Amino acid sequence: MVAQLRPLPVAVTQPPGAARGTYYRLPNSPAALQAMANYLTGPDRSAARRYRHRLRRRAFLLASALLRFALAEVLGRPADRIALERRPQRRPRVISPRWAGRVALSVAHTDHWVLVGVLPGQARLGVDLEPADRQPAAGLARRLPWADPGRASERLQRWTLVEAALKAQGRGLAGLAGLQLLGADHAGWLFESGAWRIRSAPLKGLVGYPRAVGAVALARETR
Ligand SMILES: CC(C)(COP(=O)(O)OP(=O)(O)OC[C@H]1O[C@@H](n2cnc3c(N)ncnc32)[C@H](O)[C@@H]1OP(=O)(O)O)[C@@H](O)C(=O)NCCC(=O)NCCS
Repeated sequence: MVAQLRPLPVAVTQPPGAARGTYYRLPNSPAALQAMANYLTGPDRSAARRYRHRLRRRAFLLASALLRFALAEVLGRPADRIALERRPQRRPRVISPRWAGRVALSVAHTDHWVLVGVLPGQARLGVDLEPADRQPAAGLARRLPWADPGRASERLQRWTLVEAALKAQGRGLAGLAGLQLLGADHAGWLFESGAWRIRSAPLKGLVGYPRAVGAVALARETR
């Protein structure tokens, strides 16, 4: 029997503009994959084979299915008509329908959860998720763009703010050296990287076990 597992909507209100998006998550579990099987295509299954690790492979498949689920809702199109490009070290992209081009997509996964975001419009989107009991490696924590090292409890949240920002910009970890922290206000943190202004905010309301910490970022080109 197929488990009755529905994608869980994630409410996002910050940073400004992010609330126009649609966000879903699912447990990274065999039952969730079985429940979402109708949202997967042959190309998804072939692309997943590049991942040797079982949990990573399942996360990739679940993210593809969840993106198609969210896109069908946002675009008002049947999920099986939505073709996605899923390349390593790249953000996912809608290939067809072609008029769906102005939709930004982002994915994050842990061993236990998969999170996706779909944001219509010109801004670029980045989401990040980490297990709450994890800490960034000392070498990475030192490279975070805050002047003070911060309390241990803050470091993981800061790391997710930065990863979401780097994904929104599109360079991934390679963009860390060029990411400048401009400041914070009620709506989250403001970063700059080259021609990009990036706003990143903690993701609230991530209930469920095991606990996770996350962030959502929006990047806009300034010139
Ligand atoms: C993209 C990156 C920033 C995040 O990777 P990650 O934390 O390992 O993994 P996440 O689950 O958060 O994100 C992976 C997703 O990011 C997306 N992604 C990858 N490269 C991207 C890029 N350049 N721009 C935007 N999105 C990107 C992909 O959709 C990917 O999922 P997919 O392969 O299933 O499509 C990566 O560059 C990286 O290596 N980060 C360092 C990881 C680390 O050390 N974490 C310590 C945590 S405490």
